[in-house]
Amino acid sequence: MKYYCGMKVLMVCLGNICRSPLAEGILQMKIKAQGLDWEVDSAGTGAWHVGEQPDRRSIQVARKNGIDITYQRARQFQAQDLDTFDLIFAMDQSNLANILRKANNTIQEKKVHLIMNQVDPNANRSVPDPYYDDDGFEQVYEMLDKACDKIIARWV
Ligand code: 4NP
Repeated sequence: MKYYCGMKVLMVCLGNICRSPLAEGILQMKIKAQGLDWEVDSAGTGAWHVGEQPDRRSIQVARKNGIDITYQRARQFQAQDLDTFDLIFAMDQSNLANILRKANNTIQEKKVHLIMNQVDPNANRSVPDPYYDDDGFEQVYEMLDKACDKIIARWV
């Protein structure tokens, strides 16, 4: 049996169709490029889009940057994810609160981080929800690209 030494990382937003699929795709691409044995997944705290492909605007901005996220399907965050994953990154304060509400011990709580705090520690910046803003996707991509570099630098 192969000894698993990688990290299991979960990216979480509200719908799991705009921000967290991009975060999953970006981190996946970076860990592959480095030959790391990590597992990356994403989920949404809400259930409205379960089973759907990422938003076409997220697919487009990912594709422009050489990343295919069309294989992804939305799923809802579940309490069990707090045991399954080593690191859980929330896109905004509301996602963070919803995840922490499901935690029932400090081991679980310590796995959960606001993703942009990896770039600006303690600034508690959120990745803006781009669902109602066609122009927001480029900015979201840039923010997540920086955050994923920091995640790898910190946990490799
Ligand atoms: P996401 O964006 O949380 O980045 O996937 C959203 C997608 C859908 C909705 C809200 C945010 N919605 O209300 O349906």
